[in-house]
Amino acid sequence: MASQELKMEKLTIQDLPGVGAATAEKLESAGFRDLMSIAVATIGELAEAAGVSEAVGRKMINAARDSMKMGFETGTEVAKKRESVCKLSTGSNAFDALMGGGFETNAITECFGEFGSGKTQIGHLLCVNTLKAYPNSTVVYIDAENTFRPERIKQMAEGAELDADEALERIMVARAYNSDHQMLLTEKVDSLITEQGKQVKLLVIDSLTAHFRAEFIGRGTLAERQQKLNRHMHALAKIASSHNICVYVTNQVMAKPDQFFGDPTASIGGHIVAHASTFRVYLRKGKKGTRVAKLIDAPNLADGEACFEVQESGLKDVA
Ligand code: GTP
Ligand code: MG
Repeated sequence: MASQELKMEKLTIQDLPGVGAATAEKLESAGFRDLMSIAVATIGELAEAAGVSEAVGRKMINAARDSMKMGFETGTEVAKKRESVCKLSTGSNAFDALMGGGFETNAITECFGEFGSGKTQIGHLLCVNTLKAYPNSTVVYIDAENTFRPERIKQMAEGAELDADEALERIMVARAYNSDHQMLLTEKVDSLITEQGKQVKLLVIDSLTAHFRAEFIGRGTLAERQQKLNRHMHALAKIASSHNICVYVTNQVMAKPDQFFGDPTASIGGHIVAHASTFRVYLRKGKKGTRVAKLIDAPNLADGEACFEVQESGLKDVA
């Protein structure tokens, strides 16, 4: 198995049939940077990105798929992998219990909700609690909205009885200036691990969708946005599973004026983001400044709700 994975890592897009340097460059600038992105692409996407014919596109996709380990494994092997999953604490017992003990590694967890619902605070808290629970770990924070606040990390570190300066030292923060930059930064997480030897346990992307939402405006651009977002989600899923990392992403909601029953809001990115996220949590403001987290999609947990409050030092349970 290991040797097969190694072989897969060595092959590049240029090793595919019909791909020369020029085509590889075109593919790369369109965001196709590894074999996985080709393996999950459609013929139409490749044709548009690199101007290849349908026949060549099909050959490329098939070759990329053949070169990858996209096969089966036994239930025992899967169970073994599950044993290495870690649960990262939010600091609230109720919220952790809702999530089956915490936010899981080897998975993508999406929290979506209106402004001020606590998405960013949760990102900060996960950083602090992860650093506390795993003494040699590093956490990565990709900040797309300029809302990362070292002051908050310090306050929360004090709340968790963790040295504040040490906590800040172990958080790698990068500001993402647009969606391309965000995707590039995501790729760099890989080299933090493989080249710099960092033990990354948590990757926060706050917010996942803001740049995509701002850059692709109007109905005509929706398909393009979704394709790009799809590639981003695939890259995140790959990071989560290949390095056993908890990927925490935040997402906004938009008004759904045609919805008369239930909640009149929908998350950005639609089914692309929803489908790629392993766990989905809807956050809303509750009574008296509380926050309510509702688990709406999880592979092995019952749907339910948890109530908590954001305080200076972290999250506090509310009865
Ligand atoms: P957007 O990014 O605007 O979509 O919102 P968000 O969901 O990321 O909200 P965020 O996590 O920034 O939550 C902000 C809220 O957390 C504030 O309105 C406060 O209620 C609460 N909060 C933030 N910092 C503190 C603090 O130091 N003390 C207390 N008590 N509450 C805080
Ligand atoms: Mg925020």
